[in-house]
Amino acid sequence: MQDDIAKILLSESRILARLDELGEQITRDFRGKPMTVVAILNGSCLFLGDLLRRIPLPLTVECISVASYHGGTSSSGKVELMQKSLPAVAGRNVLLVDDILDTGRTLSMVRALLAEFAGADEVRTCVLLRKRVERAVAIEADYAAFEIPNEFVVGYGLDYLGHYRNLPFIGVLKPEVIERMKGGLEPAGSR
Ligand code: IMP
Ligand code: MG
Repeated sequence: MQDDIAKILLSESRILARLDELGEQITRDFRGKPMTVVAILNGSCLFLGDLLRRIPLPLTVECISVASYHGGTSSSGKVELMQKSLPAVAGRNVLLVDDILDTGRTLSMVRALLAEFAGADEVRTCVLLRKRVERAVAIEADYAAFEIPNEFVVGYGLDYLGHYRNLPFIGVLKPEVIERMKGGLEPAGSR
């Protein structure tokens, strides 16, 4: 799997050091409030675990599933909620966690659903990565761990065609790997 990576953008130690800071900031901001962390799966899975361990407050956790990328390296433009009901966040202060802010469609749709239909008191957004691009939807994250250039990245929860989420760092795939997998092949070392 490591052989498929062209370059590492953010090492594991750099990610975790930054999460120490982010966790402290969020802990300060949410102290004394009824807090629910709502995570958008699957991309935020590793980020969620490491961030939660750094927020020593009473809180509940809810996960929701959203499909926006339908298998490629660019956004399909359509965001779909994958379950029938919204998490119970009425009257709560929500920290909405996602892996990456790209076009902004996912975060803005989910934030609106939680604030308008699920009755959250306040919704703050938190992403691991903020891509330096012009957003299709005007939204900024309240908390962002890192800003990255407009490149397709994998690892630490982020996938390409479902793979590479388990890399402990964030990196860029070799172009030939992207092409090879488009043709239906699996990552290096799969079998
Ligand atoms: P947005 O709705 O365009 O902001 O897209 C957000 C979603 O697209 C994220 O939750 C990711 O699942 C996916 N995404 C955007 N950029 C990347 C990337 O560079 N690598 C992997 N997934 C990405
Ligand atoms: Mg995602």
